[in-house]
Amino acid sequence: MKSILVTGGAGFIGCNFVRLTLRNYPDVRVTVYDKLTYAGRLENLANVDEQFGARYGFVQGDICDAALVEETVARNEIDTIVNFAAETHVDRSILDPDEFIQTDVFGTYALLEAARKFGNLRFHQISTDEVYGHIEGQRHSAESDSLAPRSPYSASKASADLFATAYHTTYGLPVTISRGANNVGPYQYPEKVVPLFITNALNNLPLPVFGDGQQMRDYQYVTDHCEAVRLILQRGQIGEAYNIGTGREMTNLAMVEILLDELGKPRSLIRHVEDRQGHDRRYSLDVSKMLALGWEPEYTPEEAIRATVRWYRENEWWWQAIRSGEFQAYYDRVYGNRKTLNPLG
Ligand code: NAD
Ligand code: DAU
Repeated sequence: MKSILVTGGAGFIGCNFVRLTLRNYPDVRVTVYDKLTYAGRLENLANVDEQFGARYGFVQGDICDAALVEETVARNEIDTIVNFAAETHVDRSILDPDEFIQTDVFGTYALLEAARKFGNLRFHQISTDEVYGHIEGQRHSAESDSLAPRSPYSASKASADLFATAYHTTYGLPVTISRGANNVGPYQYPEKVVPLFITNALNNLPLPVFGDGQQMRDYQYVTDHCEAVRLILQRGQIGEAYNIGTGREMTNLAMVEILLDELGKPRSLIRHVEDRQGHDRRYSLDVSKMLALGWEPEYTPEEAIRATVRWYRENEWWWQAIRSGEFQAYYDRVYGNRKTLNPLG
């Protein structure tokens, strides 16, 4: 691994992965390839250029643009592709699935083709626990479970997983896949629940909890997720998938209470609102395969949420700029006419 193409490297998890890789591998060169959608921001990579100089490069481009992908791979002598690029927000996928199919499915295919054409480059696909769908009772999803996505977002991510596996089986492409639980931490676009609620609370705005708030999620710290991906690139078995998460889920209401307590804000900010269509009540990963690889998360979900609150409190410059732009139109569209359920019923 000498020259990595990090697609979606200007997004939340991608930018954290870029920093971690450049810091830990002094001999590796990183080329970020990113379309810079609403979620991709050059501010997320501020200082990376000055800090790492010639070991870092940036190309603005769409992963669906096969010609530009191939030119970038050739020019930078890429030997490894890590695909973070995606449309990622479930609520946006419910409004407009089109871009999700385009980027998450066709875009992944275009990258797999480029990897194949250049002599079977190492390929890592960043996937999600959402591909397993809602998980009943006490069950946990193992990597060998069948995929049962239920939203346009997760259906597009599951399709990408299937293409990646098919390229391994058919062409022998050296592929690995990781399926991560909910990430929290620095540089997450404030449409996702944790940064949305933190920034709303800092502005003394209500926190719109979907339905009863009893949905279960495993909130992991983004650097733990990135570290796991790094380990899979180093030691993962080709052709395999790996679940990444703490293995401990909590209800959304429990997450909200931690967040409000860390901010010193009152519970009266909580508003139960009309639920998300097709809302998956519970995700739960069996992470034993990742632990067996020698990885362990540094943060519990509670520590991850508290650390995230501190970052947003200290970095208003970053999220204030977002919240005063495109974000407001999106917010009005999703939350403007949403029914309030208080008191629940
Ligand atoms: P994000 O929305 O913050 O960033 C996505 C990035 O991809 C942005 O920089 C965007 O500009 C770029 N992008 C979008 N379409 C593109 C295209 N057509 N061509 C090139 N670049 C494009 O997303 P994130 O939360 O950082 O998620 C990164 C990856 O991790 C995604 O594949 C997502 O499915 C997966 N994932 C996310 C989470 C999570 O909790 N955020 C959990 C598990 C897996
Ligand atoms: O599980 C991994 C996935 O986590 C990633 O693949 C996705 O890219 C990422 O967006 C995230 O998906 P979720 O739908 O779980 O995350 P979100 O932050 O949108 O919502 C988390 C939970 O909070 C979910 O149960 C819905 C709820 N929620 C969300 C929002 C935005 C609310 O109650 N109110 C809200 O306003």
